[in-house]
Amino acid sequence: MNGRIALVTGATSGIGRATCRRLHADGWQIAGVGREVDRLTTLQHELPGFLPIVMDVTRPDAAQRIVGATVERFGALHGLVNAAGILEAGSHETTTAEDWDRTMNLNLRSVFLLTQAALPYLKQANPVGAVVNVSSVSGMRPFPGVLAYCVSKAAVDQLTRCLAIELAGAGVRVNAVNPGVVVTELHRRGGMTPEAYEAFLERGRTTHPLGRVGQPEDISSAIAWLLSDEASWITGETMPIDGGRHLTAAR
Ligand SMILES: NC(=O)c1ccc[n+]([C@@H]2O[C@H](COP(=O)([O-])OP(=O)(O)OC[C@H]3O[C@@H](n4cnc5c(N)ncnc54)[C@H](OP(=O)(O)O)[C@@H]3O)[C@@H](O)[C@H]2O)c1
Repeated sequence: MNGRIALVTGATSGIGRATCRRLHADGWQIAGVGREVDRLTTLQHELPGFLPIVMDVTRPDAAQRIVGATVERFGALHGLVNAAGILEAGSHETTTAEDWDRTMNLNLRSVFLLTQAALPYLKQANPVGAVVNVSSVSGMRPFPGVLAYCVSKAAVDQLTRCLAIELAGAGVRVNAVNPGVVVTELHRRGGMTPEAYEAFLERGRTTHPLGRVGQPEDISSAIAWLLSDEASWITGETMPIDGGRHLTAAR
């Protein structure tokens, strides 16, 4: 154990779960948030000392309860990873107000509120704490047909920069990672059929210049690095981890 405590949302799947595993291997103690009780229990068996927090992060009282449970158990907080998120298809014409609010509440509002609740503890931590937001290449580049998602991630990027400049005086670093397509449950939860998802991954070989889509560990290693002392002079960065996807343009 390295004496540091991390709070990770989206712990039950994909990038968040890989981050729990990676940080635990690096010696962090982990509190992980999700709604799927069985998956949190499995992780608790896998990672000694893991604190499962069963919570919908869009609940009005979620941020205070999640941070409260973490600090009650571990007494401190050194790292916050905001990984919970959804991707729902919808263009400007088809996205309803409810779709828009659902995406914004989870992908953006919960990140703002959780960071706000965690901040007093991140400031007090020794060494001072850091935040990593899981954004997307869709925050940096527009993709058609996923309007609310793209806008939510662009806002997460700007939230990251705004917080970085506000909190630099306290020594709290705030960065984001911007993945390209990563093999997780995100797209299937968003309604993609298994056949469409297979075709989407196959197409990813050409849409990502390095010739492959990502795995959750491609992202969790960067998150762990951004939380570590090796990145102690980096704040306000939105880091593409996407096999070069953000470099491409339609032609
Ligand atoms: N996969 C990609 O290609 C990709 C690319 C760029 C960015 N990202 C971003 O990466 C992050 C992680 O996504 P992923 O790809 O790992 O997807 P995933 O496998 O679908 O995991 C999503 C996670 O979010 C949690 N979650 C969803 N709604 C929640 C809610 N209301 N309250 C609490 N937790 C909730 C889920 O937990 P429960 O179901 O247990 O609640 C799950 O742990 C997201 O922010 C996503 O936008 C992913």
